[in-house]
Amino acid sequence: MIVSHRQVLGIAAVLAISGFVLHAASAQTKDQDAHLAIENPADLTKEQAQKHYQSLIRRMSRGYAAAQMDLIRNYQNWPLFNDAPYISATHGQRYVNSYANRMAHNYGTLQEGEELPAGSVLAKDSMTVTDEGNIHPGALFVMEKLPEGTNPETADWRYIMVMPDGSLFGDTMGFRASEVDYCHVCHEAVADRDYTFYVPEEYRVAE
Ligand code: HEC
Repeated sequence: MIVSHRQVLGIAAVLAISGFVLHAASAQTKDQDAHLAIENPADLTKEQAQKHYQSLIRRMSRGYAAAQMDLIRNYQNWPLFNDAPYISATHGQRYVNSYANRMAHNYGTLQEGEELPAGSVLAKDSMTVTDEGNIHPGALFVMEKLPEGTNPETADWRYIMVMPDGSLFGDTMGFRASEVDYCHVCHEAVADRDYTFYVPEEYRVAE
């Protein structure tokens, strides 16, 4: 059977999205009233999304800070790679932001086959906004590039998910590692970009 490039991409996308939605659903049990939010996300302009994010950002940072992880301390002060929160179909229809620490200096310009240096940390926070106007913080998704050879199965990437109240959902290098194994499985789709998807084109900050 000959399968076209487009078919392969289509299949990959479906697998990818269903995998994440499944995960997002299981995370919901810890995420109090977010279950409704997933079904009816509001369609926001960039300005509206920005305003909602600004109104939540302090509460979000306080929540994640309760995790007491040095890795993500003050991540909101890192370079931000999107010009407004954007809706992420693969992350449970949440509005997300893409931050990267200074070590990850080439995150925005990565060429095929290039890699981010060890010590790079990528942090993606999230919020839900329903069409009834309910707004709440979502999980924080983190990727850390470990020193070469630390974990060959994930190309030395560590994946962590922190819940809005600072509790740890899982960490591939520690607590409930098997619960977050699926992260790398999806990110493998972009192995040629060192496993990073980057930001949708219409939301990229000018370089
Ligand atoms: C079904 C596919 C899928 C799964 C599963 C997935 N991600 Fe992602 N991830 C993406 C996509 C697509 C993007 C970029 C677009 C976006 O933000 O929606 C992304 C972006 C990211 C980013 C920003 C860096 C980048 O890739 O540009 C981080 C950090 C991240 N994900 C962490 C995680 C963590 C942690 C998990 C597991 C808890 C996870 N992801 C699971 C698809 C996935």
